[in-house]
Amino acid sequence: MRRPEVYVTRALPPPGIEILKDYCNVEVNPSEDAPSKSEIIRKVAGKDGLLCLLTDKIDREIMEAAPNLSVISSYSVGYDHIDIAEATKRGIYVTYTPGVLTDATADFAWALLMSIARRVTEADRYVRGGKWKIAWSPTMLVGAAVYGKTLGILGLGRIGSAVAKRAMGFGMRVLYYDEIRPPKEKEEELHLQYLPIDDLLRESDFVSIHVPLTEKTRHLINYERLKLMKPTAFLINTARGAVVDTEGLARALKEGIIAGAALDVHEKEPIEPGNPLLKLEDKCILAPHIASGTVEARSKMAEIAATNLISVLKGEMPPNLVNPDVQKVRPLSKVKKI
Ligand code: GLV
Repeated sequence: MRRPEVYVTRALPPPGIEILKDYCNVEVNPSEDAPSKSEIIRKVAGKDGLLCLLTDKIDREIMEAAPNLSVISSYSVGYDHIDIAEATKRGIYVTYTPGVLTDATADFAWALLMSIARRVTEADRYVRGGKWKIAWSPTMLVGAAVYGKTLGILGLGRIGSAVAKRAMGFGMRVLYYDEIRPPKEKEEELHLQYLPIDDLLRESDFVSIHVPLTEKTRHLINYERLKLMKPTAFLINTARGAVVDTEGLARALKEGIIAGAALDVHEKEPIEPGNPLLKLEDKCILAPHIASGTVEARSKMAEIAATNLISVLKGEMPPNLVNPDVQKVRPLSKVKKI
């Protein structure tokens, strides 16, 4: 049997590429930049597997250019960048890396929450900007309390649940909204209370977003919904930028509809120079999509993305399959190339 051919759209932390090389001929994009769409189209022709990142939009045209493609393995937990229906129709297995970045992402959601509440980035600018003239003052950079407040979680999946778990240490009342209600035991274990989304927005001091991006969740948080929130409340987003309407959020912050926001994800990444949030530095913390960015998580993601890909090419069920229906189109036995 010939060795399968695999294209990887960016260099990965070890042991990702090493695992692939044990079984496949591997071509890695040598640049630190994301490859252009035409570059991906050129590279996937004749490949059996594609390992991509969340910044690579994998659509019909790319799949069409790769008639041998059996597996698209994404180095991410989100898979909104891949046309899953198209892949399924073509018998292409799509895999992702859930689980291993849950804690890193939940930690970062908390880092953003604490930073915006207690004005950490603003304080740093204050000191470096030479504004710290009085040694101590009862009113200098006072922020909002976190302990004992109400946290609203939108989306109670793995990451939303991990954020909720951490809130127990902060003595918080934790509300959640999700389309799917978990078993009663989970609500009890995490001391959670379900509320419809609009009620959750009305009652929360902090709202943290953990829903995937779908047609239903695009602009789920818009100006009208922000108007339901308390003027003292904060919005945290570590999910996907397009869940929040940027213009609506900027307007709400300018008008004092809410107190602040801390965002790791943005509608356009990298953020564009005209993004109105850039001018609201004291009301809005902006991070460059790094919530899963710990050495541990990124290395595990590489291992899992490679293992998922190899499993499919071995004709074995991959540990993290996004589209199980694909098996009806092309059973794993027909995919086996290793
Ligand atoms: C990060 O945003 C991911 O989807 O892994």
